[in-house]
Amino acid sequence: MLDTTKIMDNSFAADVLMGLAASQKTIPCRWLYDTRGSELFEDITGLPEYYPTRTETKILQARADAIARLAGDGAQLIEYGAGASVKTRLLLDAMAGLHAYVPIDVSASFLAETARQLACDYPDLNIVPVVGDFLSPIELPALGAAGRKVGFFPGSTIGNLSDAEIADFFARARQDLGTGALFVLGADLKKDEAILIPAYDDAAGVTARFNLNLLRRINRELGATFELDWFSHEARWNEVCSRVEMHLVSLRDQTAHVCGKRVDFAAGETIHTENSRKFAAGELSKLAAKQSWRTQETWTDEDGLFSVMVLEAG
Ligand code: SAH
Ligand code: AVI
Repeated sequence: MLDTTKIMDNSFAADVLMGLAASQKTIPCRWLYDTRGSELFEDITGLPEYYPTRTETKILQARADAIARLAGDGAQLIEYGAGASVKTRLLLDAMAGLHAYVPIDVSASFLAETARQLACDYPDLNIVPVVGDFLSPIELPALGAAGRKVGFFPGSTIGNLSDAEIADFFARARQDLGTGALFVLGADLKKDEAILIPAYDDAAGVTARFNLNLLRRINRELGATFELDWFSHEARWNEVCSRVEMHLVSLRDQTAHVCGKRVDFAAGETIHTENSRKFAAGELSKLAAKQSWRTQETWTDEDGLFSVMVLEAG
């Protein structure tokens, strides 16, 4: 027998049940990241079609010293959605006088493993992982640094948020990081659909496994009955909203049960699982400025695929 009070307390169950009751079924993308989801995302970052990670890495390699100079001595680096903290190592290596590193992520055991590996490789650095949802208030650890707080939000994870979520996020970060803060932001740029679709629907099927893993997680954690073979992954370019959308397409008329509730699907109906926005030049600077972040630098690669911005608290 399912305990419905537990379900009401469980934000995963609540998000899934509410999302599947909507006319366009949808599930917030943060639920893609259980431990397996985080591992699959790491596999995506190495795919030939997935240009964002290698492009952002090149920009950060070229600019890490400049970021370190802007941050100054005694800074705290606070990363939102840290994942495996791979690109972060470029900053950790350049920021010799760093006081502490605070990686924040929803994927608890993956974050713990990332922090454990970093502690081995950076034994003198104060590493304080925080499990949390960066779309909600997060209590940052009081670390008593003399220097600046530096927010780091790489990977274009900001592209997974709506305008309203971006506004809330920037406002909260401005408040949490305080006067004198810096914010280093990686953002993917608008480009041809012919580059975008393969990046989100790769030949090896890794992105498909990442997307379908959400149903596996719902089955495991919420006792649901999804037949994974009856859904397929689809990446769609939405020109009006300038975003790649991930969907799980029902391959037939079918019924699944989630937390004891019946969910019907018509053949072809989809669950919308992620938006990945592709920004126009200047778009994020405007959104940031509305929440008192002034753009200090905007760096891009030579092909104009990706940008790294440095914002300063205004
Ligand atoms: N920063 C890494 C990982 C990006 S993947 C990189 O640039 O490669 C996105 C990461 O954000 C994942 O690790 C995921 O678990 C985390 N994440 C997604 N939504 C989140 C949320 N709402 N709050 C906290 N972490 C989140
Ligand atoms: C984490 N985030 C920015 C990735 C993206 O590109 O939107 C997640 C991802 N989804 C499919 N491939 C990668």
